[in-house]
Amino acid sequence: MHELNNTNYHPIGVFDSGFGGLTVLKEIVKVLPDYDYLYLGDNARAPYGNRSFHTVYDYTLQCVKMLFDNGCHLVILACNTSSAKALRTIQQKDLPMIDSERRVLGVIRPTTEMVGSISTTKNIGVLGTLGTVASHSYLTEIKKFAPDCNVFQHACPMWVPLVENNEHESDAADYFIQKDIELLLSQSDSIDTIILACTHYPLLINKIIKYLPQGIKLMPQGEVVANSLVNYLQRHPEMESRCSKGKSRHFFTTDSTVHFDSSAELFFGERVESKHLKF
Ligand code: DGL
Repeated sequence: MHELNNTNYHPIGVFDSGFGGLTVLKEIVKVLPDYDYLYLGDNARAPYGNRSFHTVYDYTLQCVKMLFDNGCHLVILACNTSSAKALRTIQQKDLPMIDSERRVLGVIRPTTEMVGSISTTKNIGVLGTLGTVASHSYLTEIKKFAPDCNVFQHACPMWVPLVENNEHESDAADYFIQKDIELLLSQSDSIDTIILACTHYPLLINKIIKYLPQGIKLMPQGEVVANSLVNYLQRHPEMESRCSKGKSRHFFTTDSTVHFDSSAELFFGERVESKHLKF
């Protein structure tokens, strides 16, 4: 890993509480293959979904600082829970003190900017963690970009643990997915678009489709976030020129590397070799 000690190494940092952000990184490297990437999964403390605002903020800030310490000038919070609960405070309060030239971006804004143009009925469903739903971030952001849309939310606290414990193809997954989709759709029979507002959910996509009535569109985030990053780098040449282009991909986890390496392929689509990061 010679890059990690190289002063010209400025990878794009991608962060998640665990494995979910790998579904976003997978899409980012498809459209922006030349850059260096450094992924950090805080697996030792995942899931974040049920944790308090302060805990998610503290954990996320710690992880962002780690990515900065390892050369990142640009960090993507590929985690809805962190984007909902920590991003704004990090951008407004912490970044000016840490380094006003560095940037941290989230996944909620790119998704909410797009969704108004996808829905025909203007009735949008949001499935996410308890933390994301309770933050009301999707309601607030969709109102900004698509004020004519109604938003219906439902929290699925069992979905991330099912994925993190490799139970995403089990009968238990069927039970919770069917139940949660029904609970969301019971709020309105006009919902025609559902945002999968958690980066773990692409792993459940087959079962989600199985229980979704025909005609309802799903909006997973990976591609949307990747395209939005392409656009961001075009609009910010000063940041684009700082991101190094050595095509490397490094993976850090705060938990066991054996566990990380055995599950990461499911999310990222190829085998990875991670490194343990200590706080
Ligand atoms: N992938 C994270 C998200 O998008 C999962 C949150 C969790 O750790 O519960 O919200």
